[in-house]
Amino acid sequence: MCDVRIGFGEDAHGLVTGHPLVLGGFEIPESPVGASAHSDGDVLLHALCDALLSAFGLGDIGQYFPPSNPNYAGLDSQVILQTVQDHIRDAVGEVQIVNVAGVVTLDRPKLGPHRVQIQRTLAEVLSLEPGHVGVTFKTSEGLAPRHVQARVTVLLRVEASRGSAG
Ligand code: C5P
Ligand code: MG
Repeated sequence: MCDVRIGFGEDAHGLVTGHPLVLGGFEIPESPVGASAHSDGDVLLHALCDALLSAFGLGDIGQYFPPSNPNYAGLDSQVILQTVQDHIRDAVGEVQIVNVAGVVTLDRPKLGPHRVQIQRTLAEVLSLEPGHVGVTFKTSEGLAPRHVQARVTVLLRVEASRGSAG
């Protein structure tokens, strides 16, 4: 029988000046603010990692990359994603991502002009067709002007199960 899973993840960081704003592996050019984070602060990739893990009940990235560990400072989130994907393969077997849908909540700067690049970069990172990655943007309507937040759902198909994930 076809084993299909849905995953959901969320992440948020404070915004500060002088940090890059990286979303889905794409650095927003000339953003006046970026995520204040232990790693590169890519909330979209962090939410995606939690979405992938959640689909199999494998916890969240804080368990694998504790913020308290100084070795992970400045870590590229694509390394986190690769580690998560390796862990899922070890625990579950071969898993194919069918599609990814994300929402980024950010008051400023405007992300719409960068949507195509963000989607294309994320699709490349995941080896997906660009049409299988959608990213939408919302403001917080001024409720969280100093935060960037992402929520991601992912649809997954287990290709070759190890039989350990239920
Ligand atoms: O959140 P709200 O409904 O006010 O967003 C209105 C529009 O602004 C949406 O089309 C969204 O894509 C865009 N937007 C954007 N960059 C943001 C937040 C929202 O381009 N940082
Ligand atoms: Mg609105």
